[in-house]
Amino acid sequence: MKILVTGSKGQVGWELRNKGVDQGLTITGVDIEEIDIADKRAVEELVGDVAADLVVNAAAYTAVDAAEENAELAFQVNRDGPANLATACRQGKTPLVHISTDYVYGGDQEGAYGEDDPMAPLGVYAQSKADGDQAVATLLAEHVILRTAWVYGVHGHNFVKTMLRLGQEREQLSVVDDQTGCPTDAADLADAILAIAHQIRQRENMQWGVYHFCGRGQTTWYGFATEIFRLASQYETFKVKSVEPVPTSAYPTPAKRPANSVLDCSKIKRSFNIVPRTWEESLADMLERYYHNPKRSIKEERRS
Ligand SMILES: NC(=O)c1ccc[n+]([C@@H]2O[C@H](COP(=O)([O-])OP(=O)(O)OC[C@H]3O[C@@H](n4cnc5c(N)ncnc54)[C@H](OP(=O)(O)O)[C@@H]3O)[C@@H](O)[C@H]2O)c1
Repeated sequence: MKILVTGSKGQVGWELRNKGVDQGLTITGVDIEEIDIADKRAVEELVGDVAADLVVNAAAYTAVDAAEENAELAFQVNRDGPANLATACRQGKTPLVHISTDYVYGGDQEGAYGEDDPMAPLGVYAQSKADGDQAVATLLAEHVILRTAWVYGVHGHNFVKTMLRLGQEREQLSVVDDQTGCPTDAADLADAILAIAHQIRQRENMQWGVYHFCGRGQTTWYGFATEIFRLASQYETFKVKSVEPVPTSAYPTPAKRPANSVLDCSKIKRSFNIVPRTWEESLADMLERYYHNPKRSIKEERRS
């Protein structure tokens, strides 16, 4: 099976490319240096030339706060990019898995969000991703939109690595305790995408549409941070002595975040028999890989 992965140097794309190759799949990975997904003609050429069995879009403009000032770019990448891919996929009769986000929801609902809950994006990034989802759903019947949340991984920039760094620099940290969500290991998400890819290949009655995938359970950023330090303390000694919970109001950001971005993942279990691991189990596993991978610093240096 041949899969074209856009955004292959990002957190999710990188895992997807490595895991796909490990599974014996033919992965063509491209990132911004090779192809700008906002460039319609380049996307059409690429999708036509590669002639993959499946396209996975892991490319995105993910700088949530910077998007407030760079709205045009955010919409070009997150709305027009997926639209270009969906159009090219339709021409080539190729299915598309498009990755999306918990931020498309408003965050003011009680309990977990289901795939059918209305989108109510709060900022530019969120709106641009919501528009991208809409474009894919409108332009291409054979699509899976996979909404995930709070992504971290061994490769790339994320909350876990920020905490590990700050834990070495400061004695006291304040972390927001009134936003609730589901931390998701990029490696788990890549596994889920590849499991869907195999089913797209094999199944006759594929159930296209929107799905949620994120770590099982829920926590706040503060809860996430304390678990990171609890688990990582077995690998290194930190300077940080205390992690304090603070409200969002104590840490103002340009883009508003959803207070509740817990995603209900029962549909992906029903349709594809995919069950996420608990977020704590995945975090422990990621930290184990992170601390025991001698190559990680080289990969990080290359990326930064
Ligand atoms: N990170 C999260 O917490 C989170 C949460 C929910 C959903 N998601 C979604 O999950 C997906 C993957 O996120 P991620 O964390 O893996 O993101 P990431 O690490 O930022 O990777 C995205 C990749 O896309 C590339 N890219 C940016 N603009 C592009 C363009 N115009 N054409 C082609 N490639 C471009 C980026 O390159 P540069 O780095 O050079 O810009 C980067 O390599 C995205 O759809 C994101 O919206 C992420």
